[in-house]
Amino acid sequence: MAYSEKVMDHFASPRNVGEMPDADGIGEVGNSRCGDIMKMYIKVRDNIITDVSFKTFGCGAAIATSSMATELVKGKPIEDALKLTNKAVMEALDGLPPVKVHCSVLAEQAIKAALSDYYKKQGIDPEPIVGKASECDECHFDEQ
Ligand code: FES
Repeated sequence: MAYSEKVMDHFASPRNVGEMPDADGIGEVGNSRCGDIMKMYIKVRDNIITDVSFKTFGCGAAIATSSMATELVKGKPIEDALKLTNKAVMEALDGLPPVKVHCSVLAEQAIKAALSDYYKKQGIDPEPIVGKASECDECHFDEQ
């Protein structure tokens, strides 16, 4: 399966790239199998994600999914970002080849990691809200 136009677009011109020095939450996740690393930064005001950015050291699909994930949560209430799934990211990109599904999981996990960090900084235990940071279930796909 070839990459969709949207994937190519977000890979070639990723949105919201860069570090955020005054972030309210920072999440970093990695996939031990492919070695790719994704870092997400969020800014939160009155329960709204007012700004979000990312830095991804990874494959093209990881860059495209990070970019799309930031677009999907930007300007949204935290509750919406908590519900973001890798499937929603994939759908927004018009799909990914099966061996690249785990890249979208990394994007979901990175957003959740940033939200967890945000709650921790507020003195709130993130686990009941965000859930446990889990290893990627989809990654078993990728055994080569
Ligand atoms: Fe690792 Fe895409 S190959 S995130």
